[in-house]
Amino acid sequence: MPPQDDLTIRLATQADAAAIAAVHALCWHQAYGELLPNDLLANVTVESRLPARHRILADPSVACFVAASEAEVVGFADCGPCRGAEQECQGEVYALYVLQSFHGRRVGLRLLSSCATDLARRGCSSMRLWSLEENARARKFYESTGGRLVDRRSSARGSLVLTEVEC
Ligand SMILES: CC(C)(COP(=O)(O)OP(=O)(O)OC[C@H]1O[C@@H](n2cnc3c(N)ncnc32)[C@H](O)[C@@H]1OP(=O)(O)O)[C@@H](O)C(=O)NCCC(=O)NCCS
Repeated sequence: MPPQDDLTIRLATQADAAAIAAVHALCWHQAYGELLPNDLLANVTVESRLPARHRILADPSVACFVAASEAEVVGFADCGPCRGAEQECQGEVYALYVLQSFHGRRVGLRLLSSCATDLARRGCSSMRLWSLEENARARKFYESTGGRLVDRRSSARGSLVLTEVEC
C-alpha cells in the first residue's frame, strides 16, 4: 500500500484527548478481538479511556504524538522514560496504535520514528516496548523496524494470564 501522503505527525494537546481515546478504544477492539476475552474488551470504551488520556497528556515526562489525516486522528503513540528501574533500557514506547483502515501506509513507522527522535533528544540511546505475545502483526512490524525480542513477562487479570514480550 502507498504511504499516507496527507499525513501530519504532531505533538498532541488536551484538545486531542477525546479523539485519541476513540482511536485507542477502536484499535483495542480491532487488534485484540481474537486475543482477549469479550468481557475485558467490553470495558474498553472512549469513556473508560478518557480520564487516563487526560492524565497522560498532562504528564510532562510523556510525549504523545498523533497522526492526523485531513484533521482526523488516525493513530497515536506515547513515549517517555523506561518504566522498571532494573532495565538497562532508557526510553520506552508505552503505546502505539493505528486505525485498521490506515495499516500498511507507514503511519506506524512515522509515529515510531517520532518517538525515537524525541527519546534521542532526551539522551536515550535505546528504547523498548511491550507487546502481547500473540500480537503477530505488531511483532512483525517491530522486528522489521529493528526490534529484537529481549524479555517476556506474564501478568494476571482475574483468571486470565497475559503474556507480553519486550522488544
Ligand atoms: C503495529 C502497527 C502500529 C503497525 O503500523 P502500520 O502503520 O500498519 O505499519 P507501517 O505501514 O508503518 O509498516 C512499516 C513497515 O513495517 C513492516 N510491517 C508492517 N506490518 C507488517 C506485517 N503485518 N508483517 C510484516 N511486516 C510488517 C513493513 O516492512 C513496513 O514497511 P513497508 O511499508 O516498506 O512494507 C499497526 O498495525 C497497529 O496499530 N496495530 C494494531 C494495534 C497494535 O497492535 N499496536 C501495538 C501494540 S504493542
